[in-house]
Amino acid sequence: MEKNFDVIVIGGGPGGYVCAIRAAQLGLKTACIESRGTLGGTCLNIGCIPSKSLLNLSENFHKAKKDFNQQGIEISEPKLNIEKMMSNKDKSVQILTKGVEFLFKKNKVTYIKGKGVLFSEDSVVVYDRDKKENYKTKNIVIATGSEVASLPGIQIDENNIISSTGALSLKSVPKKLAIIGGGYIGLEMGSVWSRLGSEVTVIEYLDHITPGMDKEVANEFKKILTKQGIKFKMSSKVNSVRSMGEKVTINYTDLKNSKDETLDFEKVLVAVGRKPYTEGLNLSKVGVKKDNKGRIEVNEKLQTSVKNIYAIGDVIKGPMLAHKAEEEGIAVAEILAGQAGHVNYDVIPGVIYTSPEVATVGKTEEQLKQENKSYKIGKFPFLANSRAKVNNETEGFVKILADSKTDKVLGVHIIGPHCGDMIAEMALAMEFGASSEDIARTCHAHPTHTEAIKEAALAVDKRPIHF
Ligand code: NAI
Repeated sequence: MEKNFDVIVIGGGPGGYVCAIRAAQLGLKTACIESRGTLGGTCLNIGCIPSKSLLNLSENFHKAKKDFNQQGIEISEPKLNIEKMMSNKDKSVQILTKGVEFLFKKNKVTYIKGKGVLFSEDSVVVYDRDKKENYKTKNIVIATGSEVASLPGIQIDENNIISSTGALSLKSVPKKLAIIGGGYIGLEMGSVWSRLGSEVTVIEYLDHITPGMDKEVANEFKKILTKQGIKFKMSSKVNSVRSMGEKVTINYTDLKNSKDETLDFEKVLVAVGRKPYTEGLNLSKVGVKKDNKGRIEVNEKLQTSVKNIYAIGDVIKGPMLAHKAEEEGIAVAEILAGQAGHVNYDVIPGVIYTSPEVATVGKTEEQLKQENKSYKIGKFPFLANSRAKVNNETEGFVKILADSKTDKVLGVHIIGPHCGDMIAEMALAMEFGASSEDIARTCHAHPTHTEAIKEAALAVDKRPIHF
């Protein structure tokens, strides 16, 4: 096997594998090292992809159970076969991870299986069981991702106290499921298990869910989830989680009145964030610096403190999102090939794949206030959108924030049906520096949910037609 490369990428997740493919496309001799045994990283194996499979399947189940009969589709009580559902999910994951392997072959990326460790600034050692190989390279890209974070004193055993990994492969529906953390993972997995029949309680430290999201959207989101049956304990600090037999006991302090409370559950999902994964990489030996949050420090070219070592994705600052990592992977590959690789961090969309979905891009109202920016708001409810109405999906709204003087779109926040797909239009508009007037004057097909975007853009100038 080849031992000399132009680029070695450590980590085969969405950041790493995309970087490797782009580098190879640009004519660089490229290898990608991955220790998991399959490509695709957390996203494909134990994150975005399997969770979206379960979100889709559980929503189908829920609709069949709750909506079909009253919509004139008469069926007898649907029965859940969880084993089949899980195997459906596993098959999708398998097909997609194999797909990345195929793309490596097609693009002539060398796939090295094993754990990559930095040996010097131009060499990497790969450990695979009892084998050890040394590879030389002109450049290294660290794309080792992130791992689950826990809380002090809480031992995740993936049995009764689980992380997102365990929550994606439960063998039965827990009667009572507690979720610590009302963020992306907590609310997506909470939705899955609530639709499948669990009584779900989210315990959140802050007084609002999804920190960092536009507050108006977050409040609406919580209202909708509450209506769906998810319970929330807000401003609640978890003190301990103890697993005894079939029962897990959570002790927490209600910060509103400083009272301690105790609740019992069948399972507890810990979803309080993720942390950069750099264990065993030998960063300090080679001189790669980390910040005080354990993230690898990079400059605007994604270069670390060692000039031919780059880092991308969850190991560096910024949102821990697969598509952000992909953009960085492409940027680094292009920089290494002498091109002007660049990531526009102002336009990174974020989507929560619940029902309805939540999608956002750009600045929130709170951020604009903090920056003393003067802005206009255009809002349009899905209740007044004909397509949403006929589909019985009328919850939520589109909110566009535009600069008061220039009308340039600064942020778009949507809660509503299919907005995870709709947000791409807004990201594109923002990339082109669009004004709300540009969006308002763009013809949107009727009847589609996207008309709500056009109407919200019209509403920025107080001239919506259907509301
Ligand atoms: P998160 O950062 O989204 O949410 C963590 C939540 O836990 C926050 O609301 C936080 O206030 C709360 N929390 C922190 N400490 C707490 C404590 N002691 N007690 C109670 N609550 C506490 O993190 P999450 O949901 O674990 O997701 C991890 C990462 O994975 C995120 O960065 C997210 O971007 C990414 N992800 C993205 C998805 C998507 O794009 N749809 C889906 C799932 C994960």
